Amino acid sequence: MSALLEVSGVSKAFGGVRAVDDASLSVEEGSITALIGPNGAGKSTLFNCISGFLRPDRGQIALAGRRIERLPPHAIVHAGLARTFQTARALTRLTVLDNVRLAAPSHPGECLRNLIARRGAVRRREAQVTEEAFRLLRLVRLEDYADALAGTLSGGQRKLLDLARILIASPRLILLDEPMAGVNPALREELLAHVLDLRATRGITFLVIEHDLAFVMRASDHVFVMAEGRVLTEGTPEEVRRDERVIDAYLGTDV
Ligand SMILES: Nc1ncnc2c1ncn2[C@@H]1O[C@H](COP(=O)(O)OP(=O)(O)OP(=O)(O)O)[C@@H](O)[C@H]1O
Ligand SMILES: [Mg+2]
Repeated sequence: MSALLEVSGVSKAFGGVRAVDDASLSVEEGSITALIGPNGAGKSTLFNCISGFLRPDRGQIALAGRRIERLPPHAIVHAGLARTFQTARALTRLTVLDNVRLAAPSHPGECLRNLIARRGAVRRREAQVTEEAFRLLRLVRLEDYADALAGTLSGGQRKLLDLARILIASPRLILLDEPMAGVNPALREELLAHVLDLRATRGITFLVIEHDLAFVMRASDHVFVMAEGRVLTEGTPEEVRRDERVIDAYLGTDV
């Protein structure tokens, strides 16, 4: 059986900079797979290629056997892949609840023809979206902030909001770009618990970029290591921790 996500030979250059250089990796269904590597290794650029925000110069990307490297971001979300960004993307001047509601795929109320022709159906759908948004806010324990402006949340709370926002699309695979960065230790534990719980209860697969190696060691089943645009090595957290090349890539710091 093939993996849920297969990335083969993907390259992406910006001018002369080979940000991603012939990178290949695969993510098994039901796994929590980590992507680590020093700053500038090309990790976020690879995420941008996978999620359709950048078109790779070369290479193939398949989600559940279906090629996605030429699809736009919304079509990739529709295919079951959702992502967060290195910097939280909440719309700060909207309420927390509206941030989640707006992330719902296909908002029937937006289409004028629907609005006139099927007012009842549209209203029911809007009510469903609101209910689901509340449910997700309860899940990440932000329900008390539903009516607050997203801009008033802490950095860590915004990461939880981002998680609720992408969950409303019912993804099969979630890409998290540095979920622990800027999050206080208590919320870090909570985020980790959410990731483990979402995998256990909903069977969601995760690919996670993370510099917090404690998170990587505790949460992930498999680790890919990038450096200078390439995938340097892969293995279990324990294997990767002992790999000389990984230690070198991190400039001799002990992982
Ligand atoms: N839009 C862009 N235009 C030009 N260069 C870019 C762009 N995005 C990334 N780069 C360059 O590509 C390289 C890889 O960057 P990328 O952000 O993918 O690294 P990263 O592994 O995510 O690093 P970090 O751990 O610091 O987030 C870097 O040299 C970066 O400066
Ligand atoms: Mg990055």
